[in-house]
Amino acid sequence: MQQWLGQAPSNIALIKYMGKKDREKNLPNNPSLSYTLNELVTNVSLEKYPGKKDFWEPLHTPGAPEFMLPKEAQDRFLNHLAFLKSQFDYSGAFIVRSCNNFPHSSGLASSASSFAALTRCALLALCELTHTPIPAVEMQANLSRLGSGSSCRSFFSPWALWDGEEVGEIDLPYPHLLHEVIIISHEVKKVSSSQAHQRIQTSPLYQSRDERARENLKSLLLALQHQRWHESFEICWRDFQDMHQLFDTCADPFSYMSERTQDVLTHLKALWEREGDGPIITMDAGPNVHVLYRPDQAEMAQRFKQDYLIGNFDVL
Ligand code: DP6
Repeated sequence: MQQWLGQAPSNIALIKYMGKKDREKNLPNNPSLSYTLNELVTNVSLEKYPGKKDFWEPLHTPGAPEFMLPKEAQDRFLNHLAFLKSQFDYSGAFIVRSCNNFPHSSGLASSASSFAALTRCALLALCELTHTPIPAVEMQANLSRLGSGSSCRSFFSPWALWDGEEVGEIDLPYPHLLHEVIIISHEVKKVSSSQAHQRIQTSPLYQSRDERARENLKSLLLALQHQRWHESFEICWRDFQDMHQLFDTCADPFSYMSERTQDVLTHLKALWEREGDGPIITMDAGPNVHVLYRPDQAEMAQRFKQDYLIGNFDVL
């Protein structure tokens, strides 16, 4: 039995990728900057199999939550594998197994870690089977991008910058941030990020989104480089709000913001006002709130959790 294993982390964008310039090539409308979440990982295994068609099943890992990938997500995963096989002229079949070390029901975007892990694992298998050298990490990331855009950033840590066909690590302070997800809802999102990328193109704010994202990126890089934390927080806040405004203003508007989300955001803002300090806050195309604390804020994070979050929200 021939088997290969691949693992990749998730990442959280602080300057958000939203909208595509080219859907075929999965090229983003604007640059994005992310922090890699090395504790949240997907594991993928590929096993050679004498059948004709690839198929997916859960990977059983002791201690990890079991989950079934919905049919649509399985098809997307298998399509990406088929694309990678075609790049190597390989026609054999695989059993694809995968699992996350974080609960599926947390509503966390798992496409970044899962497509990066699948790409890594498939390249190991296909390079061995076709006697081809393993491609450089930039090439791996670009192949992964064709499966899911945000996954290309998961190849670099702790900070990754993605602009067009270029993606790579960027040297910035704060290599060890404390990441928490405040889970607002366990429900499956009504609008997936892939759908969001399309729908926001009808927003009147979309035309100028690239310009605003570039401006935010420039300011955020400077603020982070000079360790101006408060300014970094403000820019990240502005950028996720800007993305959510695209959702609010498109032809067929949608929103991930609920009363519970607003309540969390209000309490986090109050924390900043009280202490003159606080975490960086961001939200993806979903209702959950991501917070990033500096290591020296660990006590503040604990206090906020005890005083407000526990009993009200699940925290990952
Ligand atoms: C809101 O990478 O999931 O999380 O390229 O269609 O797979 P596809 O989209 P995806 O989009 C993620 C969007 C986001 C912001 C971000 O991660 O930058």
